[in-house]
Amino acid sequence: MNLDKVFENNKAWINEKLSVNSNYFDDLGKGQNPDLLYIGCSDSRVTAEELMGAKPGEVFVHRNIANMVISIDLNAMSVVNYAVNHLKVNHVIVCGHYACGGVKAAMQSADLGILNPWLRNIRDVYRIHKKELSAFEDEGKKYDRLVELNVKEQCVNLIKTAAVQKAYRERGLQVHGWVFDVHTGKLIDLKIDFEKYLEDIMEIYHLD
Ligand code: CO
Repeated sequence: MNLDKVFENNKAWINEKLSVNSNYFDDLGKGQNPDLLYIGCSDSRVTAEELMGAKPGEVFVHRNIANMVISIDLNAMSVVNYAVNHLKVNHVIVCGHYACGGVKAAMQSADLGILNPWLRNIRDVYRIHKKELSAFEDEGKKYDRLVELNVKEQCVNLIKTAAVQKAYRERGLQVHGWVFDVHTGKLIDLKIDFEKYLEDIMEIYHLD
């Protein structure tokens, strides 16, 4: 990719925005009020805002390898805390995607160095759902299913946080699990039963 082209693209984008609304950047500079927190994979094909048709200011975004929500990850936890407690988003979305390299790597027996502890969290998802996953004869279908189950478990990890529990009680914040199908471009709602998960884990994870 030619980096000079990036700056040319930027100029063209500014002109395009200003041609529609001459105050566009003055308005953008005033602040943000997003209603959504999107947690997705860093994969270059899964462009959060573009695939949702979202405009600047509408979505607070966090991306990492395989869209993980790990309780001791200060980065992800800071994003969740800031978006939920301060920006007061009403929807938190975990969006995984088929053909995820992170999930694929976690399905293989290989020492990947510094990536081991990160991917271990995906292996844990596999262990929790071992019975269902081991029944798949088709490796591709098993891979797709692990992508979905990983999204669900990361939604559960969100529900374990005090910020989400409090915002649910105070204003009905919802957690959603989605999968982006890179083969078709389709966004799939896994329709996770947020209230049921909340109820299931509350005995152990109730914080606030
Ligand atoms: Co990925």
